[in-house]
Amino acid sequence: MNKKISLTGIKPTGIPHLGNYLGAIRPALKLSEEYQARYFIADYHALNSIKSKEILKENTYAVAATWLASGLDPQKDLIYRQSDVPQIFELTSMLMAFTPKGLMNRAHSYKASVANNKEANKDDDAGINMGLFTYPVLMAADILLFDTDVVPVGKDQIQHIEMTVDIAEVFNKNYKKNLLTIPKAIIDKDENVIPGLDGRKMSKSYNNTIPLFEKEKKLRKTIMKIKTNSQGIEDSKDPDNCNIFSLYKYFANQDELASLSEKYQKGGMGWGEAKEILFQKINSHLLPIREKYHELMENKEEIEKVLIEGGEKARKIAKEKIKILKEEVGL
Ligand code: TRP
Repeated sequence: MNKKISLTGIKPTGIPHLGNYLGAIRPALKLSEEYQARYFIADYHALNSIKSKEILKENTYAVAATWLASGLDPQKDLIYRQSDVPQIFELTSMLMAFTPKGLMNRAHSYKASVANNKEANKDDDAGINMGLFTYPVLMAADILLFDTDVVPVGKDQIQHIEMTVDIAEVFNKNYKKNLLTIPKAIIDKDENVIPGLDGRKMSKSYNNTIPLFEKEKKLRKTIMKIKTNSQGIEDSKDPDNCNIFSLYKYFANQDELASLSEKYQKGGMGWGEAKEILFQKINSHLLPIREKYHELMENKEEIEKVLIEGGEKARKIAKEKIKILKEEVGL
């Protein structure tokens, strides 16, 4: 099999929401038609912020169930838990020796934490653990261990991929051999970030998410909260400047888009009606995914089985790579 490899990870820091689905999961699954997919649950990355055993476990299953319910086929694609592949941590240690500390100082997420501390008049390093500081090295190991060609990620991860490339190039240069495959980030062509209820990027930290797996009633109630302008029913409305329409684009086909766009411009449709149209569309799309998700979450042994099998396959690939690398490095 010489298909190129697509790899990405999702941190189990919460139950995935619509933004995660549209921005990360669905595009990654689309790529898996063309690439050999290796998608994993970044549980060690989540440990940096989640210190509750129960929550970490539950979120890990939730992320796995989301991948599976959304169409990942474990017979064809690899799905595994990061913590089931200890070779990732061996490679992390190797890469540490090639990673300048200054590179880590420049990481956006670390810098943001320091900036927050400064603003709150706290010590620069308050609440920052080494896991957060060295995060990009672990991420580089996640990627490089599996000879990844492409990494589908959101814009916020571009810097991490650049750091991965930097580290890999230093490593390859030192041994004068292309031991590590240089990966490329694939950013969803759609430059617009998926809008949340208030129009900002949909994110747990903004508290503006639309749930993927809540019951219909709750989904409708949430969609009804989408922020709009204060135009009345009769007013002609601008679809290109509307959170409802932006979300509709992710689900509707060209004809449906044209028809809703016309309704906007003609006037006579209130925001409530537009939201109802959006709700119907999202709900019918999510219905089978939601059912499958809940079915899996009620049978965690089934998820566990898939993860164990995935872990075995991932370790097999990882062991071979680590063996070669250790030899080349002289370990
Ligand atoms: N850092 C990514 C995020 O926060 C998650 C992640 C960890 C990842 N390891 C990865 C993504 C490797 C792509 C490849 O979303």
